[in-house]
Amino acid sequence: MNRTWWKEAVIYQIYPRSFMDSNGDGVGDLKGITSRLDYLKYLGVDVIWLSPVYKSPNDDNGYDISDYQAIMDEFGTMADFDELLAKAHEKGLKIVMDLVVNHTSDEHPWFVESRKSKENKYRNYYIWREGKEKNAPPNNWGSCFGGSAWEYDDTTDMYYLHLFSRKQPDLNWDNPEVRRNIFNMMTWWCEKGIDGFRMDVISMISKTSEMPDGEVNGLYGDYGPYCVHGPHVHQYLQEMNEKVLSKFDIMTVGETPGVTTALATQYAGENTHELNMVFQFEHVEGDGKYGKWTDEKPSLTALKKTLSRWQNELYGKAWNSLFWNNHDQPRAVSRFGDDRPQYRETSAKMLAACLHMMQGSPYIYQGEELGMTNYPFRSPEDFRDIESINAYQEWCGSGRLPHEVFWPCITRKSRDNARTPMQWDDSAQAGFTTGTPWIAVNPNYPEINAKTETADPSSVFHFYKKLIALRKQLPIMVYGSYELLLEESEELFVYTRTFAQEKLLVVCNFTDMETAFTVPEEFIGAPCLIANLENSYDERDVALKPYEAFVLYKKQD
Ligand code: GLC
Ligand code: CA
Repeated sequence: MNRTWWKEAVIYQIYPRSFMDSNGDGVGDLKGITSRLDYLKYLGVDVIWLSPVYKSPNDDNGYDISDYQAIMDEFGTMADFDELLAKAHEKGLKIVMDLVVNHTSDEHPWFVESRKSKENKYRNYYIWREGKEKNAPPNNWGSCFGGSAWEYDDTTDMYYLHLFSRKQPDLNWDNPEVRRNIFNMMTWWCEKGIDGFRMDVISMISKTSEMPDGEVNGLYGDYGPYCVHGPHVHQYLQEMNEKVLSKFDIMTVGETPGVTTALATQYAGENTHELNMVFQFEHVEGDGKYGKWTDEKPSLTALKKTLSRWQNELYGKAWNSLFWNNHDQPRAVSRFGDDRPQYRETSAKMLAACLHMMQGSPYIYQGEELGMTNYPFRSPEDFRDIESINAYQEWCGSGRLPHEVFWPCITRKSRDNARTPMQWDDSAQAGFTTGTPWIAVNPNYPEINAKTETADPSSVFHFYKKLIALRKQLPIMVYGSYELLLEESEELFVYTRTFAQEKLLVVCNFTDMETAFTVPEEFIGAPCLIANLENSYDERDVALKPYEAFVLYKKQD
């Protein structure tokens, strides 16, 4: 396995809209991010992944781009971006940009042109089809954000494909001119000096040309088999690699919904010349009751099985990302830990230890390092996210499910849980803005905020800081092999890492119960690297307290 900087890096994801507002308009911005770089430096992360900051009408908060080479008005100017990049680099922090090229905004000049006529020069930049018959879309596919994946356009009496909202038309990657334009735009950013790309739904860029109806599950048919890992996706990524990526020392991570471990060895193989790493979702999916919505905690044995399979099947072959949450997922501590006040800190630290000790590049989503929690939504009016708004309408508006049944499910998993403002201190609006925030601040900010956390050496923040520092000292955390122990335990997540003469034992109690654990013979007396509670691990038998976690480290002789 080759050693590379991006395998050793810890990445911090910023959702700019909700990170720091510098001018009191209630929306986070680039100057706000620049003003908080010292905080990130102090935490110790290496790379910042910026969710999209490009010009956008914000139908999907920047994931609908109308100009790839301009900054969103609300976020500032290109000069603000250049300043952010320069200041970050001065501090030794790298910046990875979100690259959203499966689709553009319908307000992108390419689409504005494309919809004008069938003969337009840009027509073939998007995916247009005739309806099946009068008033019927080309097929039954449903979009990720509800409704049909096809939008009728009366100018030419045809439909365009949008796997996400109708304001996010899918680009036609089969058109070489589209690819050329995208590659040129990417080169432009690389020449500016950015340090990499996180590629939005990159596994969906190639569609089969035949577009049959998909299997119906709910109201619409599934486009998956025809659009995810489509026929030319690897060819296009190799072309991108040859024309752009290989020319710069950058990091690339592909958001790859639906990827399997076998496919990951192609997307992010050591020698496949596509991407550096995948960002896969198997461990955060599959818990849904109604589509992706559920009010249940995932089972630990299932979670361990999935995570362990990814650890073992990629070992030495391909590289993975490690994460519990991002801007599309609920808060980690509320979902996998326990956000009740008596357990929040301990379980947040336990989750951090469990993840950071695995192989892969760890991603910290803003506020995770403070143990930020899900938001206590009161009514559907609280939602800002297009996915939650549409889903509520689709399930409850139509009477498919009663409000009382769906409400606990949608509030548990809404993407808005992750999008409430970063909690900086205990002043008004958590110090995020002096104005009215675009989305409400979580009312628990007086207790949970960066000021309190950085001041307290036993905080969740300092636990993350320590884990990041350990990764810099111990190559075993990056390169060691993995073995799951106690596979059948519904309470404990236990694994080892092995690297040359070194070995780690990671023990995490995922429950609110005291749980017995027997330290394996070879680790008895081994020093403890990090733990989230005061305890001694010198004896064979340990009674783990709720959500307790510890890591033992030994050097073999
Ligand atoms: C990705 C993004 C998500 C966005 C979608 C469409 O999944 O992470 O936030 O809504 O793609 O661009
Ligand atoms: Ca602002």
